[in-house]
Amino acid sequence: MKPQISFMERAIELAEKGMFTVTPNPMVGCVITQGKNILSEGYHAKAGLDHAEIIALKNLTKKVNSNMVMYINLEPCCHQGKTGPCAKAIIDSGIKNVVISILDPNPIVKGKGVKALRSSGINVNVGLCKSEASHINKGFISRITKKIPNVLMKQAISIDYKITNAKNKWISNKESRKDVQFIRAKSCAILVGSQTIIKDNPKLTVRLNKKELGIFEKKRNPIRIVLDTNLELDIDKYDFFNGTEKKIVFNSISTNFETKKNIDFIKVKKNKSGLNLNLILSILAKKYEINNLMIEPGEKLSTSLLSNNLLDDLVLYLCPQIIGKFGIPASSAINNLNSNSIKIESIKKFSNDVRINYKFLSK
Ligand SMILES: NC(=O)c1ccc[n+]([C@@H]2O[C@H](COP(=O)([O-])OP(=O)(O)OC[C@H]3O[C@@H](n4cnc5c(N)ncnc54)[C@H](OP(=O)(O)O)[C@@H]3O)[C@@H](O)[C@H]2O)c1
Repeated sequence: MKPQISFMERAIELAEKGMFTVTPNPMVGCVITQGKNILSEGYHAKAGLDHAEIIALKNLTKKVNSNMVMYINLEPCCHQGKTGPCAKAIIDSGIKNVVISILDPNPIVKGKGVKALRSSGINVNVGLCKSEASHINKGFISRITKKIPNVLMKQAISIDYKITNAKNKWISNKESRKDVQFIRAKSCAILVGSQTIIKDNPKLTVRLNKKELGIFEKKRNPIRIVLDTNLELDIDKYDFFNGTEKKIVFNSISTNFETKKNIDFIKVKKNKSGLNLNLILSILAKKYEINNLMIEPGEKLSTSLLSNNLLDDLVLYLCPQIIGKFGIPASSAINNLNSNSIKIESIKKFSNDVRINYKFLSK
């Protein structure tokens, strides 16, 4: 493998250290190299803290020379945000070679960072490890370019295609459920239908601790969202509403803000499947800066999502239980998926459960 590729792969690996904390910003990692050696590294951990390039420059103990190369998985910013522009810091540092995987799709940057570097005489190459870099920031890219989040649906399904179990709440095993916690932790928000709140009373919080997540910053719980068309859920009855983290109740009746429990009630229009999901996705991107939305739907909500072609990712845990006639069947829309519309990205075993990650091709 060419050393340039392994340097960029390291930058991407560093970027991913921010996956549980960096939202709504993109994940960015940076390495500074000379010859075959990495001299310094950095990654962006949280909005408001230093960007990856600044940390790598601060961590560099050697005086900058013209043989050094900086690798970054995303174009450096050129505007004053919560922190100063990285392009200017790179120019001021004296670094003369920069390799970037992808341009920042944000219109306030988009090519302007590269232009600023080139106008100062820096050699800039764009495109190395482009698909890996786009993949890790697919939520951010979706929010900025499509104005909706990346939408992931997770469901646990028995081998007789049921999503509920009359005797026991859980279909999946303990290991699979721990894995789900990592998906939750990576998500900016988690959305469910009202019936799941009524039947399961889920907390929808992240139960992993900082050590399990491998983070130094404060643990972040995703925003919790429910679809409650007629405002029928009692906010004093369900665990979903507990705590002061942000909650959103999409409904068809009223928009108002309850401050004690930090709940935003947002009124949206209805269509024949229920609340208008396209509108909800746009609001989540625009008003709440949600990059990655995880949905844990029952039968009805999964039918709406699948039949309206709203999914980017589908994560199914197939579990070796036969539930029989008492369970709710998985959405029949799942049977209509075919290889032209989805591809399998990965398969992993958790004891006897199997997790299959699908990617939708046609959205
Ligand atoms: N196996 C799994 O992974 C898994 C995951 C989640 C849930 N579940 C199970 O699923 C069961 C609930 O499933 P469910 O099918 O009855 O309900 P659901 O999918 O959890 O929620 C559906 C409800 O959401 C509201 N809604 C609003 N807009 C909607 C829209 N556009 N499309 C669909 N729904 C919309 C409607 O209620 P309103 O009219 O009140 O708004 C609708 O009845 C629970 O027993 C739970 O245990 C299983």
